[in-house]
Amino acid sequence: MRKAICPGSFDPVTNGHLDIIERASKVFDHLTVVVLENPRKKAMFSMQERVQMLKSTISDFGNVEVDSFKGLLVDYAKKRNASIIIKGLRAISDFEFEFQMALVNRKLNRHVETMFMMTNNKYSFVSSSIVKEVAGYGGDISSMVPSRVHKMICDKITLHANNA
Ligand code: PNS
Repeated sequence: MRKAICPGSFDPVTNGHLDIIERASKVFDHLTVVVLENPRKKAMFSMQERVQMLKSTISDFGNVEVDSFKGLLVDYAKKRNASIIIKGLRAISDFEFEFQMALVNRKLNRHVETMFMMTNNKYSFVSSSIVKEVAGYGGDISSMVPSRVHKMICDKITLHANNA
C-alpha cells in the first residue's frame, strides 16, 4: 500500500492546501494530513482547532485521515511507518525553504523521501498568513478558504477584538 503524509501548520487550512490534499489522495492509497507546530510561526488556532477544521473539510475524501503531532516530522513518519512526505510548492519563493526542509529531513532519516506537487495556479497567491492578514483587516477571503473555515476565522477575530 502506497502511504504518504502531508504535513503543515494549517493555520488555517486554505483552498490551496485542500487542492494539494485532494490531488495527493488520488496518487496514494492512503494519505495522512498531519498538523505540526512550526516554531517559526505564531499560531492563531490551537492544534485541536486546526485538526477539527481539517476534519470538517476533508470528509469527502475516503482515504484521507487527519492527525496531529508535537515533535519532528521524521519521527512522526517513522511512527506511522510512512516514507513519503508530500508538500505543495506555490512559487519559486517557497522553493528555497522547502528545499532546506527536505534536505534536513533526509539528513535526519534517509529513508524518508519528500515529493513536491505544484499548486493549482488559481491558488498560487493563497497562504495561511495572507488569509489571516486580509481577514484581520476585514477583507474578503471567501474564495481562499472553505466556508466553515471562513466562519472559524471570523469568530476568532471577533473574540480577539472583544478581549482587546
Ligand atoms: O505549513 P508550514 O508552516 O509550512 O509547515 C511547516 C512544518 C510544520 C511542516 C515544519 O515546521 C515542521 O516539519 N515542523 C515540525 C518540526 C520539524 O520536523 N522540523 C524539522 C524540519 S525543518
